[in-house]
Amino acid sequence: MNLKGRSFLTLKDYTPAEIEYLLDLAADLKRKKKRGICGNSLKGKNIALIFEKPSTRTRCAFTVACIDEGGHPEYLSKDDIQLGHKESVEDTARVLGRMFDGIEFRGFKQETVEKLAKYSGVPVWNGLTDSYHPTQILADFLTIREQFGKLKGLKLVFVGDGRNNIANSLMIGCSKMGIDYTILAPTALWPDKELQKQCQEYAKASGSSISITDSIDAISGADVLYTDVWCSMGEEDLAAERIKLLRPYQVNESLLARTGKDSILLHCLPAVKGNEVTEEVFERFADVIFDEAENRMHTIKAVMVATLGDI
Ligand code: CP
Ligand code: NVA
Repeated sequence: MNLKGRSFLTLKDYTPAEIEYLLDLAADLKRKKKRGICGNSLKGKNIALIFEKPSTRTRCAFTVACIDEGGHPEYLSKDDIQLGHKESVEDTARVLGRMFDGIEFRGFKQETVEKLAKYSGVPVWNGLTDSYHPTQILADFLTIREQFGKLKGLKLVFVGDGRNNIANSLMIGCSKMGIDYTILAPTALWPDKELQKQCQEYAKASGSSISITDSIDAISGADVLYTDVWCSMGEEDLAAERIKLLRPYQVNESLLARTGKDSILLHCLPAVKGNEVTEEVFERFADVIFDEAENRMHTIKAVMVATLGDI
């Protein structure tokens, strides 16, 4: 599989076989790292890490993964560079593309990461926008594979803000990979209709299903429960309204019992315990949730190695 030179902006751009390939590569890189073996595939490569929003996992994953493979990461916060303020995104992209071999971007608009890719001429990786968080989904899928040995045929239920970047990206990823996907959310927080339609097409091709509902009964039979913060970065002002809307959808003991299965819980983190998940339930699944966090590094490494590395 040759992904050289490709950007990673949304999972829409990747086929199920390509996603599978990235997961296999990540599993292989993880095994090697556990044995103390790191590669050299990014030797001589300079990588810009642009952050308009804060980050623990994504920033550290890109940094460690890059250094593990012999590359040089350069962190650029929104206050360090002119991006979109004193200089257009197009111009910043053309400058960075002359100096760097790859660019990670975390920020608000999906349009910004797309412009960076279009104008820089180097691979650009989406480290989260308001719309999507594709590298997170690779880590989620690697974790699910480690737990269940497969993806196809499983049922994943996302509970919470059903129109946020994680819910959107999971819908794309699950429908492509043959995972039955349910969004359990109040109707005010359902995803964009156009995206639903597009994902229904992917689901048809993979033989999976998508359902969007506000009925807690839909949780029955879930192999994987997934939740995320009720207010994403930049939405902090909406906290009171969201708490009111989402309280009935908190992942707590009684909700968990309604899966009727030995389910696992995933959370992309950071978590607001007491909101989307109780401390008790979170701690019960802490091992798998922190595997998921670790897997950010192995999967992000796979994306960089596949699209930029000498392999
Ligand atoms: N899950 C995730 O993206 O975490 P950070 O915001 O800490 O990068
Ligand atoms: N939906 C969350 C994900 C954080 C990784 C946010 O955008 O803040």
